[in-house]
Amino acid sequence: MGAEKKWLLTLFSATLLSLLLLLFSSISAFTSPKPFPSIVQHGAHCPPAFAYYIYGGRGDRARIFRLLLAVYHPRNRYLLHLTAEESEDERRRLASAVKAVPAVRAFGNVDVVGKPDRITYMGSSNLATTLRAAAILLKVDSGWDWFITLSAVDYPLVTQDDLSHVFSSVRRDLNFIDHTSELGWKELHRIQPIIVDPSIYLARRSQIFHATEKRKTPDAFKIFTGSPWFVLSRSFLEFCILGWDNLPRTLLMYFTNVILSEEGYFHSVICNSPEFKNTTVNSDLRYMIWDTPPKMEPHFLNTSVYDQMVQSGAAFGRQFQKDDPVLDMVDVKILKRGRNLAAPGAWCSGWKSWWMDPCSQWGDANILKPGPQAKKFEESITNLLDDWSSQSNQCK
Ligand SMILES: *[C@@H]1O[C@H](CO)[C@@H](O)[C@H](O)[C@H]1NC(C)=O
Ligand SMILES: *[C@@H]1O[C@H](CO)[C@@H](O)[C@H](O)[C@H]1NC(C)=O
Repeated sequence: MGAEKKWLLTLFSATLLSLLLLLFSSISAFTSPKPFPSIVQHGAHCPPAFAYYIYGGRGDRARIFRLLLAVYHPRNRYLLHLTAEESEDERRRLASAVKAVPAVRAFGNVDVVGKPDRITYMGSSNLATTLRAAAILLKVDSGWDWFITLSAVDYPLVTQDDLSHVFSSVRRDLNFIDHTSELGWKELHRIQPIIVDPSIYLARRSQIFHATEKRKTPDAFKIFTGSPWFVLSRSFLEFCILGWDNLPRTLLMYFTNVILSEEGYFHSVICNSPEFKNTTVNSDLRYMIWDTPPKMEPHFLNTSVYDQMVQSGAAFGRQFQKDDPVLDMVDVKILKRGRNLAAPGAWCSGWKSWWMDPCSQWGDANILKPGPQAKKFEESITNLLDDWSSQSNQCK
């Protein structure tokens, strides 16, 4: 072989090698997630962001994960709490499922509570865990605007792009909290009885117990009650958690011994505080169907109420049975979400096909693309804001 031929062969193999390398790198650019997330921007000139606290108990791991995927967006923050009724193993499985989602790994915006609390149904331990969640979320993320509580039986009826788009035109100090001071039968059966929640001081689970005596209805402040589900502003939660004013703390001590304190605490704090009572919009933004008179929990929603549920313009529905077919309908028709994948939004830039997750690659996370369900939701928010500005339905 002549020197020239040898040289040609080397050139040829070098070219082939670089072509192959180029081919491989372009393939991997298509299939592997971008190593660096796009910069998430927060602030008054950016779309609002939400802090979600999602909790559940025994047997709820898969539902919590599904709900997380349904409400996921890189701009938001999430705290998941699988309570102490569930095993350590299930909590670990939840944490590893969360970590396996490419966007969650890159944006690092989901945490799982590692030291769970015990929650007693109807007791104040429930309120304590909500306050703890709000405190954690305030501490770990300075970018969010509203705090939303969800439990494993809830599901969204709008996309996160819809939610953030519609909330872009809402004053960021407003609080969506269903409330009334008309106590009715609750005065005698909810406010005057004194209860103790043993989860606060006993290591083993037990039920709340009732004191034999009742106490007077307070007159140092006015009691408000309402739905335990809300969308609260960051500024109001700072007021509750940081506690420079004594009102949130005084009411917390009072509500420790009230049945279902979650249905009265935030409502009473906000309506008794002069700087926040004008910020209440009287709605919980949930779709629920109740019996008349209402039982403890609303009906389970199923496919037979799908149309009326999406026509309601609510942001979330409650409550659903595990893996009910109506959840698949919401996934297909509203969220456009594939099985075990995050609900796509304008931030997802991957190819949409049966073999690929469109949200395993992303572009600008600060851009929103509201879908058809945003219109209904916007109508209901507009109506609520009209109601709010008339002040006729506020802390009364
Ligand atoms: C709240 O609204 C009332 C009635 O319009 C008004 O008098 C009061 O000054 C407002 N409070 C704040 C803090 O804006
Ligand atoms: C939906 O739930 C209602 C009661 O809540 C029940 O009567 C109805 O049969 C259910 N429909 C389906 C399709 O499961």
